[in-house]
Amino acid sequence: MQNYADAIRHLITRHATGLAVACIAGAGILALRRWMAGGVCRSKVRLDGKTVLITGANTGIGKETALDMAKRGARVILACRDVTRACIAADEIRQQSGNGNVVVKKLDLASLQSVRDLAKDVEENEERLDILINNAGVMMCPKWKTDDGFEMQFGVNHLGHFLLTNLLLDLLKKSTPSRVVIVSSLAHEKGIIDFDDIHLDVQYERETSYRQSKLANVLFCRELASRLQGTGVTVYSLHPGVIRTELGRHLLPTLALWQRIVVTPIIMLIKSPAAGAQTSIYCAVDESQANASGLYYRQEQRDPGDDL
Ligand SMILES: NC(=O)c1ccc[n+]([C@@H]2O[C@H](COP(=O)([O-])OP(=O)(O)OC[C@H]3O[C@@H](n4cnc5c(N)ncnc54)[C@H](OP(=O)(O)O)[C@@H]3O)[C@@H](O)[C@H]2O)c1
Ligand SMILES: *[C@@H]1O[C@H](CO)[C@@H](O)[C@H](O)[C@H]1NC(C)=O
Repeated sequence: MQNYADAIRHLITRHATGLAVACIAGAGILALRRWMAGGVCRSKVRLDGKTVLITGANTGIGKETALDMAKRGARVILACRDVTRACIAADEIRQQSGNGNVVVKKLDLASLQSVRDLAKDVEENEERLDILINNAGVMMCPKWKTDDGFEMQFGVNHLGHFLLTNLLLDLLKKSTPSRVVIVSSLAHEKGIIDFDDIHLDVQYERETSYRQSKLANVLFCRELASRLQGTGVTVYSLHPGVIRTELGRHLLPTLALWQRIVVTPIIMLIKSPAAGAQTSIYCAVDESQANASGLYYRQEQRDPGDDL
């Protein structure tokens, strides 16, 4: 017995520093997780009889937003470029929400023709559109072009959504009170609109491009809100938080090994897509924001008692 206690004591003294570091790191990660968790949308509003269209809803933040809208009873349209993946997501959403009224429509925001086709389909076949959520996005891809020759990030994140929103405005106006929710990013804060080289042909920098596209989202929200004043259509832009999704798909493979090793624990810390959907949901349904328009939303840190 004595030997055993000695052995333990020996182990602790020998590895004291290591154990202390592990404990502090563990506690630190837990505290940071808690601090980063963020709030939830508490609105219990039902959306029975209403229609919601969400772009890029086959994965990530868009899929979780769609699930929430389905749980509230809405007819939910997943507007996605990969119809196969979108159908799988739609099945999951139907099962988890118990709402069978979830449909997939094809939308590739990197093609204005595809945007026009989708808008036409919606105009012709949908009776109403109560909530449009411009969620799809591409981040830090290589220097790619859309079908129409636009720089990819600006083309998908802003121009495609700009056209889509304008084409759906009549239907939104017929369905008032209705809302347009634009998923931007904190990255817009360092953004600059390069009017002389809007597609960054002269000097393409993937981060500069992402920031510009996300700033365009915020500016579009403000301008659209002012043009729609008094119509009953309100507009919101937002930062969802830093969320564990597929958004890093173009960035991660380009990182050096050491960078990936540094990034991995950070990825474990960041929020779930369900948490990331909360700000979109808040802007889409919360009663307190019914008369707000043109504003940018960003979650404050977690309130005591929040259950996420
Ligand atoms: N995650 C974060 O930390 C974070 C932070 C700030 C802002 N945001 C914003 O949040 C939004 C949602 O991103 P996420 O994090 O959920 O990323 P994600 O998991 O990569 O999802 C992005 C979605 O956009 C779709 N998409 C991409 N290009 C498209 C195109 N040409 N046409 C139609 N759909 C297209 C994707 O479809 P496929 O699956 O077919 O590619 C996918 O459904 C984005 O606007 C992003 O900028 C995210
Ligand atoms: C919005 O405006 C209407 C009409 O002025 C008012 O009745 C309602 O209480 C307002 N709602 C909020 C949440 O401010």
